[in-house]
Amino acid sequence: MNCKNVIVKIPCKAMVQGITSHPELGKPDYVRALAQHDAYIKAMESLGVKVRVLPADESYPDSCFVEDVAVVSEKCAVVTNPGAPSRNAETRAIIPVLEDFWTKESIHRISAPGTLEGGDVMRVENTFYAGLSERTNAEGIRQFTVIMERYGYKTIAVPLTEVLHLKTGVNYLDGNKLLVAGEFITKQEFASFDKTVIPREDYAANCLWINGTVILPAGFPKTEAIIRRLGWPVLPVDTSEFRKLDGGLSCLSLRF
Ligand code: GLY
Repeated sequence: MNCKNVIVKIPCKAMVQGITSHPELGKPDYVRALAQHDAYIKAMESLGVKVRVLPADESYPDSCFVEDVAVVSEKCAVVTNPGAPSRNAETRAIIPVLEDFWTKESIHRISAPGTLEGGDVMRVENTFYAGLSERTNAEGIRQFTVIMERYGYKTIAVPLTEVLHLKTGVNYLDGNKLLVAGEFITKQEFASFDKTVIPREDYAANCLWINGTVILPAGFPKTEAIIRRLGWPVLPVDTSEFRKLDGGLSCLSLRF
C-alpha cells in the first residue's frame, strides 16, 4: 500500500540505556544513531513521503521506536499499551500527534490487562497479523480485533516463540510477497503467501516496502540481491546503532 506520511521520533541521549537482548553488540553510539536516524528520514523523503519529526524524549530510552506506541490505518488509529513496563507511558506523547491526523472518535486505545506493541502488528491489505509475544498478550489482540472489526479489518493472531516482535522476522512487501526468517518460514498463518526466505541474514527481514522501493538495513548483500531479483529497487539504510537495542527499520516509524 502506498504511504504518504510517516511519524518518527528523534533518538534521545538516554537510548544508551534502552532495552536489549543483545548486550554483546555493545551500547549504541549516540552521535552515530542520530546520523543514521537522519539518513532514515532522508530515505523516506526521497520516496515522496512527508515526515513528521517528533522531538527526543529523555524520559524514555526506547522512545525512538515510535512504531510500538500506535497502530495506524487510513480509517483509524489505535494507541497501544506496551508490554514493556519501561515503555508503557511512551503512549502519552503520541496522542496529541495522532489528533493532528485522525478525529478523536477514530482514535482508540488498548487498555490493561491487554498489552500490545505496534512492532507485533503487520498489515497486509485489510488484514492485520498480530504477534502473541512477550509484549503483546491475548487480551490486547482481542481488544485490537474488536476495534478493527468496526472499520472492516480482520485480525489474525500469530503465536511467537523465538523473536521479540512479529516484524522482527516477517515483513510484507507487495503483491502477496512476504520476506521471512526463522520461525516464520513454516508458520501456518502465512501458508498462502509467496514467501522469500532470508538466507542467514535474519535481521534484514525487518525491511520496509515504501511506494515501490524496499528500504533495507545496510550490510545484507544476499537479501539485497534477492529483493532486486524480485524486481524492486533497494535503498540501504544503516541501522547498526538501533540493532544494538533490538530495533529495526520498521520500529523507527509509523507509516500511513
Ligand atoms: N529496545 C526496544 C524494545 O525492546 O522495545
